[in-house]
Amino acid sequence: MRHHLPAAALAAAALLALSACSGSGDDTAAAADGELALVTPGTLTVCTNPPFEPFEFEDENGEIVGLDIDITREVAEDLGLELEVVVSPFDTLESGASLNTGACDISASGLTITDERAAKFDFSQPYFDADQGLLVAAGSGIDDVDSLAGKKIAVQMATTGETWVEEQGLTPVQFEDLGLQIQALQTGQVDAVVNDIAVLGAFVSEGLEVTSTFPTGEQYGLGVKKGNTALLEAVDATLERIHEDGTYDAIYTERIGTAPLAD
Ligand code: ARG
Repeated sequence: MRHHLPAAALAAAALLALSACSGSGDDTAAAADGELALVTPGTLTVCTNPPFEPFEFEDENGEIVGLDIDITREVAEDLGLELEVVVSPFDTLESGASLNTGACDISASGLTITDERAAKFDFSQPYFDADQGLLVAAGSGIDDVDSLAGKKIAVQMATTGETWVEEQGLTPVQFEDLGLQIQALQTGQVDAVVNDIAVLGAFVSEGLEVTSTFPTGEQYGLGVKKGNTALLEAVDATLERIHEDGTYDAIYTERIGTAPLAD
């Protein structure tokens, strides 16, 4: 029952069939049949970079779950596809390499929509609002931009948090992922962690505290390879559908712990 194909996806698939006929380049064989261009036929392959709870993280069975996975599963179901999750370094998502080398069809990784990234791959409509946040050892007294001066500030490589720290005239220490950032803070290797505010709250119980939110007005989007218009339109159609039928609110409430604010 959930395997219905949205009208927009059908229209998009028809459009892709037309563009495939005009010989537009490296679309996969599937595209020539008028189907979605997918790296593995029958499967929606999604690249993501855990740990980034509650968006992508390993559950007790070792499975990658989270809000991004829930949303892409909705896309897969609307298209009648299996969902496969591929763990990827964040910089390959951010640069579009994972899409452009055919590692996956969609990047779903709390990816902030930026002009620089949008030049390298396409973004869906926004699905989550984000700001930067500051996580420190409880009682450190580090609680604003000024108190970060001279401190060792951990960022995740190639993220908007890294850019934000640099824009403050500060020099960050790079880490591959959020897990390594947190570890560095816990072992005293760094004084502070900057990353998206929505992922920092999970660590407050561990002797760490969130002392500041830096409003950046970011928005997350799902990444699709440029030229895969049929898939991009299908993704947007699913986002619209889940906003209308309450699925998005249910996913948000489960993963974030509060209902989304009405916009
Ligand atoms: N929103 C930030 C960015 O796009 C950080 C995203 C990090 N995502 C992740 N799954 N580790 O740069």
